[in-house]
Amino acid sequence: MNPIVPRFDVPSAILHGGGARRRLPDLLREFGSRRVLVVTDPGVAALGVVDEVLAILVSAGAEVAVFDQVQPDPTDVNVAAGVEALEAHQADLVVALGGGSPIDAAKVIAVRNANPGPLSEYMGLHKIANHGLPLIAIPTTAGTGSEASKVAVIMDTTRHVKMMMLSAPLLPRAAVVDVELTLSMPKSLTAAVGVDTLTHGIEAFVSRKANALSDPLALQCIGLCARNLKNAWSEPGNRAAREGMMLAATLGGMAFSNSSVCLVHGMSRPIGAVFHLPHGLSNAILLPAVTLFSCEAALDRYAVIARTTGCAEVTSGDRGACDALIDWLQQLNRDLELPRLSQCKGVDRKTLDDHIQKMAEDALASGSPANNPRVATAEEIVALYEAAW
Ligand SMILES: [Fe+2]
Repeated sequence: MNPIVPRFDVPSAILHGGGARRRLPDLLREFGSRRVLVVTDPGVAALGVVDEVLAILVSAGAEVAVFDQVQPDPTDVNVAAGVEALEAHQADLVVALGGGSPIDAAKVIAVRNANPGPLSEYMGLHKIANHGLPLIAIPTTAGTGSEASKVAVIMDTTRHVKMMMLSAPLLPRAAVVDVELTLSMPKSLTAAVGVDTLTHGIEAFVSRKANALSDPLALQCIGLCARNLKNAWSEPGNRAAREGMMLAATLGGMAFSNSSVCLVHGMSRPIGAVFHLPHGLSNAILLPAVTLFSCEAALDRYAVIARTTGCAEVTSGDRGACDALIDWLQQLNRDLELPRLSQCKGVDRKTLDDHIQKMAEDALASGSPANNPRVATAEEIVALYEAAW
């Protein structure tokens, strides 16, 4: 692919708004699908939402099977088990239901039979050539934007690496973005996935691959986060705030999957691989320090972000706006009661010391840090992990 020509992929349909899930039968008819595999995880399955979606699918005349064994950091083993379930049911459509983990796993399950080589060969950009079964993604968290992105992150259990895959065939054919599915999210999850969303907007906008189509989506995502995240966190039943965050997540997913994520996400995945912290939490831990490190190289872009959040005046100079942005990001983490790395459950200093060099190397190997406005060396990444400690 010619890297000079940006490529822009989005789902062919996004049904959004309260009650959107009840429009699923329309999509089934449109795709001509009769045999559906629902991919989810045990936590979502316990909430009752799976039963409701199953009833909607069955009412549309579909034969439905459920694969509900996706782990929080989905693995190559989960994907293989999901493919078995898909084959056993002879599914012609996959429905992903849940947070980023089941949606990411479902993306790879849906394309796996059309791309049968070792999974590790599909890590990186545009490595998955063939389209698989159509996928409908229904997020139950407002954060990952996975429902609208062509990205999946799958843990390689042999090499203990989180593999980032970005390829057009991973894109869901349709996304059903229904705010009613997020109203019961606990506060800690609202905070973590909310800052993940904000990070998608920021990284998509400052990325070296930012482009004319991704920029407006990224800024819209950032503005919605600034106006709604704290309210969605402090007032879980605030439907308008939840709706704002849900739209931000979908816009952010479209933005970063057609621009890219950068150093925060590159450094976040190794934290997840070693300490199994939720993805959004490890992003939140890194975002202020990485922004401070990076902003020199793109003062004007970070200043636009600062003005979009409202933490800097529209008439402010770039330098002052960037300083305000870093303060605002630090305060946001405190307001949302998000910890520093050293304060996280299950994180200890010795494990960090033992792994920090490999974490820096794995971050660089993922490719995401190369999109950052200021490209970090392994030593600088080590220093940034220290700064987040
Ligand atoms: Fe993310």
